[in-house]
Amino acid sequence: MAAIELGHLKKFVLRIPSLYFCSIRLTSMCTQSCMQCGIPAQSDGSFIDLEHFETILKKLKRHGNKRINLTGGEPAIHPHLEEIFRLLAKYEFTNTALLTNLYYFEALQDRVIDLACKYDIGINTSYDGLADVADKLRGATDVQNIVEEGVRKINEARRREDYSHRPTATVVISQINLHQIPEIIQRIKELGWNLNIDVYRYSSENHREQDEMKITSRDELLNLLPLIQQTQHLKTPLWYFDGWQKHKHKQCPYMISPTFGSKFFVHETGDLYTCLPEPIGNLINDDIKDIFASEKWKDAKAQFAQCPGCWNTCYTISSRAVSYLHWGTIRQYLLKRPKLKSAAAVYL
Ligand SMILES: C[S@@+](CC[C@H](N)C(=O)[O-])C[C@H]1O[C@@H](n2cnc3c(N)ncnc32)[C@H](O)[C@@H]1O
Ligand code: SF4
Ligand code: SF4
Repeated sequence: MAAIELGHLKKFVLRIPSLYFCSIRLTSMCTQSCMQCGIPAQSDGSFIDLEHFETILKKLKRHGNKRINLTGGEPAIHPHLEEIFRLLAKYEFTNTALLTNLYYFEALQDRVIDLACKYDIGINTSYDGLADVADKLRGATDVQNIVEEGVRKINEARRREDYSHRPTATVVISQINLHQIPEIIQRIKELGWNLNIDVYRYSSENHREQDEMKITSRDELLNLLPLIQQTQHLKTPLWYFDGWQKHKHKQCPYMISPTFGSKFFVHETGDLYTCLPEPIGNLINDDIKDIFASEKWKDAKAQFAQCPGCWNTCYTISSRAVSYLHWGTIRQYLLKRPKLKSAAAVYL
């Protein structure tokens, strides 16, 4: 343990990423076809191989990773999900979340929830539309009912105290669902889930540019702020919303806090990505220390320096520790409730 902490300190001095936050994509295949998302179109039909997954975990562990998000596509359709969770437990990754749309048949919902309880995995679900709007945004049918069935089952597990995490609902605001946001937030409040807010963007090849989704009325977005900020279990730091109201300077995590703040994304091929379109290495074939000593990493750093900046939750919230010295944000986290106060507090 001490060796890892010392290792972190050394990386901090040398400005080497510790891969502290890492998302691993189990597959690009998906059960939905969302308007905003370009990931399923990249799929060659493959899932991450278990041996490769273990190699990646070992390397991440040795390098100092503390948090893994399992993502996709739809990660829950990986045929060996339990083995994936077992490997995470074997290498003592205790802070893992599954990013799932919950849009699949009932038996799979049951299995995913049972496994999340058994292996103590956090659940983060997309919830950004109601009725026809949900179907349109998510390119699927009966989305609200199917997702809410999964949500209901998760809350049943919480009520039975089989599941101790407070799940998170991620809402991506776009022009299409703007009018439904108050109702969606109300629903998430009633469920007692965390709320994570993002805004539709089209900044990488994982995204699809859709004119219909672009926010045309900034005032309408800003009008939602009081409602969002009053949400009890808001996860998105309040300081982030200042950037909605006034122009904020570039806060690139790869430049400001490379060791602890920067985010990395591992694809099912083992390729390791930052926010840039080209991978910086491959976690199956390469040693992490060689990746951060490579010309590719040097090139990536030059590109971070030239980038005009971004303002989105995906990168910005981990950019600067001092941003959290913000009165509203301090109050927001100090007033946070414990994970699960009582089973009676869980709504169905
Ligand atoms: C790529 S998905 C993977 C997990 C799972 N399939 C899901 O949708 O929850 C992760 C998150 O990225 C969001 N996302 C996808 N495309 C986006 C875009 N263009 N702008 C903002 N968020 C986007 C999704 O809505 C979702 O909350
Ligand atoms: S946002 Fe998630 S659910 Fe939608 S297509 Fe992309 S990966 Fe699938
Ligand atoms: S888009 Fe630009 S500012 Fe944002 S994380 Fe990437 S390099 Fe940094």
